[in-house]
Amino acid sequence: MTKISPSVLAADFSKLGDEVREIEAAGADMVHLDVMDGEFVPNISFGFPIIECLRKQSKMVFDVHLMIDRPERYIERFIKAGADIVTFHVEATEKSEECLKLIRSLGKKSAISVKPKTPIEAIYPYLELCDMVLVMTVEPGFGGQSLIPETLDKVKALKAEIDKRGLNIDIQVDGGINEKNASEARLSGANVLVAGSSVFKAEDRCAAIDALR
Ligand code: DX5
Ligand code: ZN
Repeated sequence: MTKISPSVLAADFSKLGDEVREIEAAGADMVHLDVMDGEFVPNISFGFPIIECLRKQSKMVFDVHLMIDRPERYIERFIKAGADIVTFHVEATEKSEECLKLIRSLGKKSAISVKPKTPIEAIYPYLELCDMVLVMTVEPGFGGQSLIPETLDKVKALKAEIDKRGLNIDIQVDGGINEKNASEARLSGANVLVAGSSVFKAEDRCAAIDALR
């Protein structure tokens, strides 16, 4: 069953609580929260206060995507703020194993991500410690970009590796996902689709989520 995780990066930040309630009512399975530090990616989004405030307003699964340098410094605080799934980038740290173990030790779902130019094999040493892997389908940093088709080959390779090892790991794709390419992403092996623009900019968000699924 495909899960849909709308990214609030494309939402109206002046009424984020309402926006999250709306996508929940529209059938979203979780909400994707993109944290950017202006170092790991050339953009800055939001941090702890927004997540803490939203946590008081929503019981949805908070799928927190950390695009930050040396995430080990802040993982615990993001979990305290309300994260249920914590994703960090393999390119951002020399402590991937410690990060994954830390997330799990705090009772949350662990996930590691690769940028489009990073070979998928870079995360293979950590697969046993992952609840989810995020394969970026655009360069991280900005919403509203087009999916890079070659990234889906990485999804296929990852799916084959996970099946070969008999593991139960979600595969998430993020960036440029829309109703036209969602089925290809699913057929490649992804079962969690992040969608910013294609959900939040849609007139009918419920129909947009249904179309992706
Ligand atoms: C990009 C973020 C994505 C982004 C997706 O760096 O990680 O989550 O918000 O937005 P769309 O779906 O518009 O590409
Ligand atoms: Zn994201």
